[in-house]
Amino acid sequence: MDSREFAKSLAKQVADFCTNLDAKLPAYSFIPLTTDAMRIKVMQSRLFNEIRAGEIFGGWLKSTPELDVKKTLANATHEEYEHATFLEDALRAQGATPHEYQALPAQMAMFNAFEGLTDTVERIAAFPMAGEGVADYLIAKSLKAGTVPSWVTAPYQRIHEDEEEHGNYPFEILVKYATTGEKQKRAARAVAMSLVLRRAYFDNLDRWVFEDKMY
Ligand SMILES: [Fe+2]
Ligand SMILES: [Fe+2]
Repeated sequence: MDSREFAKSLAKQVADFCTNLDAKLPAYSFIPLTTDAMRIKVMQSRLFNEIRAGEIFGGWLKSTPELDVKKTLANATHEEYEHATFLEDALRAQGATPHEYQALPAQMAMFNAFEGLTDTVERIAAFPMAGEGVADYLIAKSLKAGTVPSWVTAPYQRIHEDEEEHGNYPFEILVKYATTGEKQKRAARAVAMSLVLRRAYFDNLDRWVFEDKMY
């Protein structure tokens, strides 16, 4: 398949997953939350994601031979720690201890799975395209909802601006490098893996926030 058509098909798979979330928005989106105690838990969980995302992008640098992708990953690494700082500040202002948080089992599994990917096309499809694509979809929703308090939306406004700025970079990397049937097959499976694990993380986070269960 032509690589642009292929990238479009993956983007559609991610967009469909996002639309399906609308029927019952996860705690992750902040929208169904009713107390600041719940919002603090979700923000702490998402702060862990920023730290772990930076570790993963940074960890991929040496094994990424494509220099343009390497530079993009290096920038993304730095950006994740800026995001972490925004969230740490917001949490401290609420009287919370930012990193007083234990990663949820499904959350650990999702990031460990990203970390285990070895091919550039698979990595970019699974994480920046599918993972961050879903995350940013829900950030945009929470900003527009009008019901999420400003101490939550303020740092996410800044995070959202960053995500919008580099907009389509995963798509363009796939157009450039997902040029063989074999690479496309692996990338499609990596996206499916990412979405299945994302769903599991959202469900795990819901159980923790609403029922105080770790799994
Ligand atoms: Fe990011
Ligand atoms: Fe981030």
